[in-house]
Amino acid sequence: MSSQLKRELKWPEQATLAIEVCGVCNLRCPMCSYPRLKRKKGMMDFGLFTRIAEDAADNGHGIVSLHFFGEPLLWPHIVDGVALLSKFGMHPRLSTNGMLLTGDMARRLQDAGMKEIMVTIDTLRPEAYNIIRAGGDFETVRRNIHDAIAAAPDLLIRPQMMPTKHNEGETEEDFYNEFGRHRNFQVQPWFIHRMIEADNLTKDLFHKPGDVDKRLCDKPFERVDVLWDGTTVLCCLDAEGELVTGDLKKNSISYSWEGPKAMRLRRKILAGEWHDLPACRACMADHVVTDIAPTCWKKSDTLPPLPESYQRVYDRILELGEYDDEKGSWTNGGMKGC
Ligand SMILES: C[S@@+](CC[C@H](N)C(=O)[O-])C[C@H]1O[C@@H](n2cnc3c(N)ncnc32)[C@H](O)[C@@H]1O
Ligand code: SF4
Repeated sequence: MSSQLKRELKWPEQATLAIEVCGVCNLRCPMCSYPRLKRKKGMMDFGLFTRIAEDAADNGHGIVSLHFFGEPLLWPHIVDGVALLSKFGMHPRLSTNGMLLTGDMARRLQDAGMKEIMVTIDTLRPEAYNIIRAGGDFETVRRNIHDAIAAAPDLLIRPQMMPTKHNEGETEEDFYNEFGRHRNFQVQPWFIHRMIEADNLTKDLFHKPGDVDKRLCDKPFERVDVLWDGTTVLCCLDAEGELVTGDLKKNSISYSWEGPKAMRLRRKILAGEWHDLPACRACMADHVVTDIAPTCWKKSDTLPPLPESYQRVYDRILELGEYDDEKGSWTNGGMKGC
């Protein structure tokens, strides 16, 4: 791997590390892939988590998310896991459906070093909650948020608002009226700035075949997601773990980020050949559209040019040549055994 390519990829400053400590959930939210997941369900072994945490610390990772698909507060080691990351100087954060976020749990997480928690309540209307967060209990989550705010003053509690037909008209102000204004409380508006159609709540919102011609998706350039069994992917919507770049039971995080599988995946995406990649072909993922998207994410017969920074990465990847699995190196030179 050339040092120039490493610099272009901005590892690890640019990359989010997300660890699915628990691949099991207590809810069945209709817009989520979880209820339909085919991959095996389970929770991360604490020995594997420790190994990943040490590796992440050596890599200089800062923020580490402790969720992917599943409910992180079901993981029996969650407090110890947070304490370990904090001991290594990292900043753990997580998203929870809030069913298990009691005041006591919030305080224990705060004391272990957790700084921020997102709670996916999405609405203050119980009837809407019952549709959006199937299997949850509105009153429990509402009370838990109140209790967590009071019990853990140094832990930022951020209720998520996902716009749907069911909570239409609700505002951030409504949430402040319900929970009050506190130093450790901040409403988290949904990161997709459009309303989810009511019907879409019964389908998988992001995993329906799209007719949008994607030129570029930036996810594989900004994150490593670790599934509960140690498998790594480079996209928070690769829920089934189809585009595997490594296995942290035997590889390092760096291998997952810049090893041959990761580079082949990026090369395909930069070449505009995402149709060959099952998870990408099925993905509508309008939430990955960022500031680079308006020019490169639209239907066209010819590929529009890549943004300059991505073109530089692409050029460097092409310079690597092909990966020789037997020799364990790129034909034009490159790092071995990462
Ligand atoms: C998959 S959940 C996992 C963590 C936890 N169980 C929770 O609900 O917060 C993490 C985030 O993904 C969002 N989400 C649900 N379904 C999604 C989907 N199909 N694609 C992308 N994000 C989704 C949730 O609203 C939540 O903000
Ligand atoms: S959104 Fe979270 S709580 Fe709902 S089913 Fe998915 S993983 Fe579970």
